[in-house]
Amino acid sequence: MRTQVAIIGGGPAGLLLSQLLNLAGVETVVIERKSRDYVLSRIRAGVLEWGTVELLRQARAGDRMDREGILHGGCLMSDGDRVFRIDFHQGAGRPVMVYGQTEVTRDLYAAQDALGATILHECEDVALHDLDGEAPFVTLTRHGQPLRVDCAYVAGCDGFHGVSRPAIPASVRREFEKVYPFGWLGVLSATPPVSDELIYARHDRGFALASMRSPVLSRYYIQVPLTDRVEDWPDDRFWAELKRRLPADVAARLVTGPAIEKSIAPLRSFVCEPMRWGRLFLCGDAAHIVPPTGAKGLNLAASDVHYLSRALIAACTRGDLAGIDRYSAEALARVWKAMRFSWQLTMLLHRFPDHSPYERGMQEAELDWLRNSPIARAALAENYTGLPF
Ligand code: APR
Ligand code: PHB
Repeated sequence: MRTQVAIIGGGPAGLLLSQLLNLAGVETVVIERKSRDYVLSRIRAGVLEWGTVELLRQARAGDRMDREGILHGGCLMSDGDRVFRIDFHQGAGRPVMVYGQTEVTRDLYAAQDALGATILHECEDVALHDLDGEAPFVTLTRHGQPLRVDCAYVAGCDGFHGVSRPAIPASVRREFEKVYPFGWLGVLSATPPVSDELIYARHDRGFALASMRSPVLSRYYIQVPLTDRVEDWPDDRFWAELKRRLPADVAARLVTGPAIEKSIAPLRSFVCEPMRWGRLFLCGDAAHIVPPTGAKGLNLAASDVHYLSRALIAACTRGDLAGIDRYSAEALARVWKAMRFSWQLTMLLHRFPDHSPYERGMQEAELDWLRNSPIARAALAENYTGLPF
């Protein structure tokens, strides 16, 4: 099989890239390890920056998002019972869109189907070859049959545990990592959200987040020790702990119900440099991981896709290689800024087991500054709604 761009991974990054390339007349083959149903069963964050919203529209995958997504003009922050609001319009002149990542992925699959795109699911033993030469290729096994895909470029969109990043020689690769000493326990429930806007709650017992997917579907998180398991958190215990961490008046109106999904995710910051090696380009979680505070994961994948799609379209349709030479530096400049924001929000809102009273004092001072300074809130709004790309 031959194509122009082989895309490893059919998550949101791989599908969005494929969609933008196909719309510009560039041929792709998406190579995904799992089944489509499996990919669509993963639950991730649900806040889209304005740039991501526009990119999905440009990719002709934004119609349902525009119908069913919820525009949010601000979010709330609390510290115990003290609450203040970050106004996104006032601070940054734009809102965010609350729309689940699972739905984004579903819409991208539908858009790819409408274009007749080639997506190979259930691919095993995926291996990348001759990435530093003129004619790279990908080998894999599918339904027991070996397959070879020859291409001009390979896009590594296969997430944190994929094969693309390790294909960059260790002598070239630099990795930067910070692991946080706690996880997030997330619950999805068929209950009306407790608040019209997201609540980021700092509390002495640990961080909590009240989020949503729709007017009848809520998503809540609490910070838990990494040693905890999902079985340690029956629904009653989860709701009781969440109530303690939310402001009392909010907790009083919380509607609880059975958890539809419950999982614990560790928190990590990770960057791999460079994001290009020869004819391989890393994109999305394959190159970087952010902690979920601030919901930057999917949005960073989207900005990578923006830079990479533009670069590959120029290379494949006009022989213009300037964009692909620029890709790594251009994408990384934005990646590090989103890293900084996710790290800052994580450090501000969580209870760290090793924090001294001094560091707790720093958190309180920063929250007090945000509460009282329109400039501080505007800076947060600028980052939360998404730096330009
Ligand atoms: N071969 C083929 N596909 C692979 C391989 C492999 N060896 N390894 C992983 N994959 C697939 C995974 O099954 C997954 O569907 O690559 C896809 C990567 O998707 P994501 O992990 O969702 O990463 P990405 O598309 O970069 O999305 C970035 O979306 O999923 C979230 O947490 C993620 O928020 C982040 C954002
Ligand atoms: C979510 O709705 O899952 C969500 C929202 C905001 C975050 C993280 C997760 O910062």
